[in-house]
Amino acid sequence: MQRKIAIIGTGYVGLTTGACLAYLGHKVVCVDKNEERISKLLKGEIPIYEPGIEELLEKYKENIEYTNDIKKAISESEVLFIAVGTPSRKDGSIDMKYFKKAVEEIAKNIDGYRVVVNKSTVPVGTGDWAKDEVKKHYKGDFAIVSNPEFLSEGSAVKDFLEPDRIVIGVKDKEAAEIMLDIYSSINAPKLVVDIKSAELIKYAANAFLATKISFINEIANICEKAGGDITKVAQGVGMDKRIGPHFLKAGIGYGGSCFPKDVDGLLSISSNHQHNFGLLRTVSEVNKRQQERFVEKIKSILLKIKGDTVCVWGLSFKPNTDDVRKSPAVFVVNLLCRDGIKVRAYDPIAMENAKKELTFDNIKFCQSALEAVEGADVLALLTEWPEFNEIDLKDVKKKMKNHYILDGRNHLEANQAKVLGFYYEGIGRK
Ligand code: NAD
Ligand code: UGA
Repeated sequence: MQRKIAIIGTGYVGLTTGACLAYLGHKVVCVDKNEERISKLLKGEIPIYEPGIEELLEKYKENIEYTNDIKKAISESEVLFIAVGTPSRKDGSIDMKYFKKAVEEIAKNIDGYRVVVNKSTVPVGTGDWAKDEVKKHYKGDFAIVSNPEFLSEGSAVKDFLEPDRIVIGVKDKEAAEIMLDIYSSINAPKLVVDIKSAELIKYAANAFLATKISFINEIANICEKAGGDITKVAQGVGMDKRIGPHFLKAGIGYGGSCFPKDVDGLLSISSNHQHNFGLLRTVSEVNKRQQERFVEKIKSILLKIKGDTVCVWGLSFKPNTDDVRKSPAVFVVNLLCRDGIKVRAYDPIAMENAKKELTFDNIKFCQSALEAVEGADVLALLTEWPEFNEIDLKDVKKKMKNHYILDGRNHLEANQAKVLGFYYEGIGRK
């Protein structure tokens, strides 16, 4: 059945949710407090880079409205999704100010039965807090639901429509039925649990994936010292069905707006509940060290050959996104620039966002990958964009001053590079 749904927050999660629920046939109103964002959306401009989303928003525009008027959206919808940011504070704890504001707006404007669905990643116990908060202002009936989102940036639409599972944390029976109905045409297991379990599932999933990455990076570090090729080791380990092949790609560590924040967030939740989650603290430390080790490798080559210029391919935290939040690539470039090393950088999509983070005099942002290698001593690949693999390394060789490739994502053809006379070093495979 077609439902009337308001989505509060039109970022990666909110806009994807809006587009996909419209595609599923629901009537959606996307709300944001950011006026520029809404006016862009009203003009048909998409404020984020996410493959497939523009097409969905255009094709199902009959089902979608955009507004800054949260009161109207709440009054006209029966289900209210919250998808606002929950960033980290400096000390790693979770900044709930946007979430609290959204709940406050709902509490003050609700005027009949509503299902309040939280998609933001929030600490365990938030559902109970939200319930009490709404009750302070509204004496009628309503339900609270935790419906964590597991989409990844770059494949958000596919992840939303073809998820491994849909988790619904809920107590109220009517609300559970409404949620199952909203997602009825998505063919995926639907796990209905209590609200606190749903809230914890989200943090546990991200923390576990981050753990896999730090674990494989440590095995890669052993490969570098003892021999062995991490890509082969990961393949062999991942063939065990109990482990699985995913998230075993060694590299310069994980980044993005989620893993670093959610690992810190779970550490903060643990400490608030007097639990010392030492394993997770180490996961985070290994990740930071992995990025620093890569910088040390670059610097030791520059020192050896008396070079001073590094070409950087890739700035986003992973391919297919313009997002540079907590990007390992930006972290690496930051350290290089601070050390006075000249950097020539190129990213297919994330350059504008990266420019805001990397405001050094010794960095030049280039128009193409080939322009970026001109005169460079070392080529450092930091994000595995597919286009880097398609570049003819012969052309790269002609343009570079010295011929060193440090492949932070094991993305380039190592043998081809070696045959052409490059010094090539990946992660966990010499
Ligand atoms: P985002 O920063 O891209 O977007 C959040 C949006 O919410 C912004 O446009 C902001 O203006 C708006 N907003 C904030 N407060 C508001 C309010 N009171 N009323 C209306 N609009 C408001 O965030 P995001 O990346 O979409 O993440 C949202 C949540 O989902 C976070 O908790 C995040 O951890 C979680 N999450 C993110 C991803 C991801 O891949 N980005 C995946 C799964 C879960
Ligand atoms: C991640 C999760 O994959 C999503 O399920 C989750 O919903 C989301 O966080 C969130 O909670 O917001 P995302 O941050 O978009 O999604 O990106 P990932 O594809 O998970 O990559 C995260 C980082 O890990 C990237 O920097 C990537 O380069 C790195 N990574 C990933 C590795 O280093 N190795 C791998 O094998 C996989």
